[in-house]
This record gives sequence, structure tokens and C-alpha cells, in this order.
Amino acid sequence: VGGVLQDVTPKQLAAHSKKNDAWIAIKGRVYNVTHYMNFHPGGDTELMRGVGQDGTTLFSQIHPWVNFESLLQKCLVGHLVSHESTGA
Ligand code: HEM
Repeated sequence: VGGVLQDVTPKQLAAHSKKNDAWIAIKGRVYNVTHYMNFHPGGDTELMRGVGQDGTTLFSQIHPWVNFESLLQKCLVGHLVSHESTGA
């Protein structure tokens, strides 16, 4: 499904909460940060605090200046939706 953006529910997001299968939502966008894990300047343990959930607040509290849209461009999975959408 390369290149196809998905609607991701909180439940689907939570299913990717492992270091080797790590998704995070920031400002409505869902990213697969599995391959970014070892490159995160704050380390993997810190990044894992926001994985599998909406990490917007955490992210913004720590480094609001970081341009995640640019850095994680190729890791974009889709968009966070607040409820199960029909046909999902
Ligand atoms: C730096 C935590 C998510 C990119 C840091 C640092 C911490 C941290 C504590 C400071 C490291 C230091 O200076 O010693 C977290 C937490 C996250 C998170 C708890 C969970 C939401 C992300 C994501 C990205 C990212 C998703 C990808 C864009 C960066 C960058 C720096 C950094 C680029 C270096 C910033 C600078 O030095 O100006 N992070 N991070 N972080 N993080 Fe995160």
C-alpha cells in the first residue's frame, strides 16, 4: 500500500506500540517512526513515550520547533480519525 494514505483510528494506532512497529500521531498526522527510532536525537526510550497514541502534546511540550512534517515526510501513514470510519 505504498503511497496510499490511510484513515487511522486510535485503536489502529494503539496496535503499533512496539519499538519495531511504532506509529505516532502528531497534529492529526500518523507516522510510522519505526525506522526513525534509532535516529531520534532524544533516544528511543523518549520517542517510545509517544508511540501508539496521539503524541502531539508531548511533542509540543518538548520541542515545538522541530519540523516533523519535513523530517518524517517519508514516514507518513495517513491521518488520525476520532472514530471507526465505515468500511475500515
Ligand atoms: C530531541 C523527546 C518525538 C525529533 C528530543 C529530546 C527529547 C525528546 C527529550 C531532547 C534530547 C536532548 O537534547 O538531549 C521526545 C518525545 C517524543 C519525541 C518524548 C514523543 C512524542 C519526536 C519525533 C520526532 C522528534 C516524532 C521527529 C520529528 C527530535 C529532534 C530532536 C529531538 C529533531 C533534536 C531537537 C533539537 O536539538 O533542537 N526529543 N521526542 N522527536 N527530537 Fe524528540
